[in-house]
Amino acid sequence: MQIDQSEFEAIIQKHPQKKESLIPILQNFQGEYLYLPPVALNMVSQALDIPLIDIISVATFYNAFSLEPKGEHQVTVCMGTACHVRGAPKILAEFEKKLGIEAGHTREDGKYSLDEVACLGCCAIGPVVVADGNYHAQTNIRNVDKILKMLEKEEKKEQ
Ligand code: FES
Repeated sequence: MQIDQSEFEAIIQKHPQKKESLIPILQNFQGEYLYLPPVALNMVSQALDIPLIDIISVATFYNAFSLEPKGEHQVTVCMGTACHVRGAPKILAEFEKKLGIEAGHTREDGKYSLDEVACLGCCAIGPVVVADGNYHAQTNIRNVDKILKMLEKEEKKEQ
């Protein structure tokens, strides 16, 4: 993605220039770029007078923020206790194998991101996988291919 510092500046200037604006500004960047570009974090650090290391701590603490660009397709596997005991680790391992990336990463071709989450709040229907915002209930490793094919099909429809 092309870095445009004037766009970054415009986002920062939309918010009051005080420390309390940190989270809203980061949310704004995440919403706009689907990750937090490093140059933008430097600019936020200068604008709000917050050390960069503190901003990175905040960004890594909250799951909603990503320091790495996200793929066109996002797959999230719930690894909360209820999903875990029903086989989520095997499902995650299957996605890792099929996509060729570990959880928490984006494939080099930018097509897929794979993440794990602690609990999606719908434990009764676990194990749960969210693929491009769609929830898949009671999944197992046999569903992994099906879910990936659905994502590819959606892609072809959009072309
Ligand atoms: S543990 Fe997976 S939805 Fe709660």
